[in-house]
Amino acid sequence: MWESIKKNYGWVIVAILAALPLMAIFGNLNIDFANGLQISLKKATGRGGRSTLDMLYHISGEFAIRWMVAVLTLTPFYILFGVTNLFVRQAMGIATAIWSILHFALFIWGAGFMETFTQVNYIAGFIAVLILIPLLFTSNRKSMTAMLSKWKVLHRFTYLVVGLSMLHIVLLEKTWIPYAVVLAIGFVLRVPSIRQRVESRWK
Ligand code: HEM
Repeated sequence: MWESIKKNYGWVIVAILAALPLMAIFGNLNIDFANGLQISLKKATGRGGRSTLDMLYHISGEFAIRWMVAVLTLTPFYILFGVTNLFVRQAMGIATAIWSILHFALFIWGAGFMETFTQVNYIAGFIAVLILIPLLFTSNRKSMTAMLSKWKVLHRFTYLVVGLSMLHIVLLEKTWIPYAVVLAIGFVLRVPSIRQRVESRWK
């Protein structure tokens, strides 16, 4: 087991980093096992006038978008430095999908499923979450070898997911500019002529 941890240390580091903010989520909840399992919101833990539920949306939404942007920086990182690690990409993709699904689950818990269809920004987020589900279940080597070229086509939908998620937070008027800048730099580096020039420095 120790050998496998040493071989997949990138995966392990991402799993630990992705799991840590769960403590902030649990910090906002009262979990009571006395009469079966009862979960309720702690009173007024939110900062800056935010309600506890808003804090839960905030934490889960921020980690979902951060992991998503981080996954999209891996190719630009490869273009710049020639370093890549399939396991890290896989782990970051899984962290993105799980935080997005958790964000949506908290919304259903707090506001109800039907509330999703009341605002364009929620619908954009909902479509993103729906697409993330098949991406999550095929983010492994077995699916990659079984699906061959279809896997690439399916995983190109990542770009649509990013577009929809950005639309969601732009319409909500939340912090989006830093994410847009990082994504834009990544897309510029992907332009074939620029990519070739940059890669020729280390190839
Ligand atoms: C059905 C899908 C989704 C629903 C219903 C939903 C709902 C919400 C709600 C209610 C908020 C808080 C809005 C407010 O404070 O005014 C929020 C914020 C946010 N959401 Fe979503 N969301 C969904 C999907 C996503 C996805 C897929 C992502 C990104 C991967 C995302 C990222 C964010 C971010 C970054 C924020 C801002 C957090 C903050 O700074 O407070 N959401 N979302």
